[in-house]
Amino acid sequence: MERCRSMKHRANDQKLTITRYPATSNRSLQAWSAADELVLNVLANQELSRRTVVVYDDRFGFLTAYLHTIEPLTVVTYKSQQKALELNLGQNALPRVSERWLSPLVALPETIDLGIVRVPKSLDLFKLYLAQLTASLAPDGQAICAFMTRYFSAQMIAIAEEFFEHVEQSLAWKKARLLTLTRKKPVGQLELLNALPLTFQDGSVEVFKQYYGVFSAGNIDYATQFLLEHLALAPGERRVLDLASGNGVIARAIQRQRPGVELHLVDDSRLAVESSKLNLTAENVHFHWDDGLEQFERESFDLVVSNPPFHFGHETNIEVSQKLFRQVGDVLKAGGRFVCVANKHLNYMTHLTRTFRTVKTVAENEKYVIYTCVR
Ligand SMILES: C[S@@+](CC[C@H](N)C(=O)[O-])C[C@H]1O[C@@H](n2cnc3c(N)ncnc32)[C@H](O)[C@@H]1O
Repeated sequence: MERCRSMKHRANDQKLTITRYPATSNRSLQAWSAADELVLNVLANQELSRRTVVVYDDRFGFLTAYLHTIEPLTVVTYKSQQKALELNLGQNALPRVSERWLSPLVALPETIDLGIVRVPKSLDLFKLYLAQLTASLAPDGQAICAFMTRYFSAQMIAIAEEFFEHVEQSLAWKKARLLTLTRKKPVGQLELLNALPLTFQDGSVEVFKQYYGVFSAGNIDYATQFLLEHLALAPGERRVLDLASGNGVIARAIQRQRPGVELHLVDDSRLAVESSKLNLTAENVHFHWDDGLEQFERESFDLVVSNPPFHFGHETNIEVSQKLFRQVGDVLKAGGRFVCVANKHLNYMTHLTRTFRTVKTVAENEKYVIYTCVR
C-alpha cells in the first residue's frame, strides 16, 4: 500500500503517519491538503478542551487524528472514510472511538460549540452538512469551513449565508482559505432530499428521491440513461449486483424488468444507500454500504451492472474503478456477465480485458460506451 509521508505539526507537536485509503499509486496525491493544515493552525490559537467539536468530510481522518485529545465527533459519509479513520487512528495507536462516528442523517447527540467542515465537491452536500450542524450548534457556536482556493465558488458563500448571519472569508494561506461562520440563523427543519421524475424504457415515470450530495441530482445521468436503453436481462440471470448504485436507478430498472429478482446494491456513500432504500420496493432487495465487494461470496452473481465512479472528491481517479473491476471478476459466476457504461475517453477496454475472458463493446455514442464482459 502506498504510504504518504508523515508530518510534524508545529501547533500541537504531534507527528502522525496519515495514509490514504483507498491507496493510490499517484505519488502526488496526499492524505491531507493545506486546507487541513490551515484549520490546525487556526485551532492552535484556540482553547478547545471544553468545547464540543464536530468534523465533516475528513476523508482520510487527518483532522480527527490530530484533534484526538479533544475527542471530536466525526461525521462519516463514506465507508472508505470509515476505513481510512480506522487505518490512520490504528496505525498511530490513537483510540478509535467509533461511537463518536456519526451518520450525516442523524441528529448530533450533543450541543456543538465548533463545527469544522472540509467543503466537499458537492455543494448540496455542504448544505446538508450545515443543516445538520446548525440544528445542534450552540447559539454562540462557530463553523470553520476549509477549502482550496481553486475550488472556491460564490455558491459556497450563498449556502453559508442561508445558515449564518456572519460569513467571513480568510486570506489565502498556501492556496487554502477558511470561511468562518457565526451567529446562526433560526433555520427550521429542512427536507434534505431532491425529488426527480425518471422516465423508464416503457415510458412510465417514477419520482425518485435522493439526499443532497448523491450523484446526479436533478436528472438521470446521461451515461446511466444510455446504459438503461441497452440493458436487457438474460433468462438465467437471477442474482444481480448494482455496483456503485447511487440512488438505485439501475437496480430499479432491473426490478421493473423482472420483479422479484434478487438484487444487491453497493455504494460507498451512506447517503446514496439511504436514498436507494427510498426508491426500491423491498422484496428480495439487499442494500450494502461498502466500498468494495470483499463481503460477497466468490462466484455468486449472474450479472453485475455498473456506472462506475471515476472521481474521488475533486480528483479524477480511475484506480477505484480498476479495483472494483478486479473484484467483479471474483464475485461473478463462471460465464456471468458484467455490463458497464463509461465515458469513452477513460478507455476501460484495456483494464477490463485484464480481468475478463471476453470484453465486447455493445453500444456507443459520441461520449459513452457500454461494455459487456464475460468471466
Ligand atoms: C457514476 S455514479 C453512478 C450512480 C448510479 N448508479 C447512477 O447511475 O446514477 C458512481 C457511484 O459510485 C459510488 N462509489 C464511489 N466509490 C465507490 C466504491 N469504492 N464502491 C462503491 N461505490 C462507490 C459513488 O458514491 C456514486 O454513487
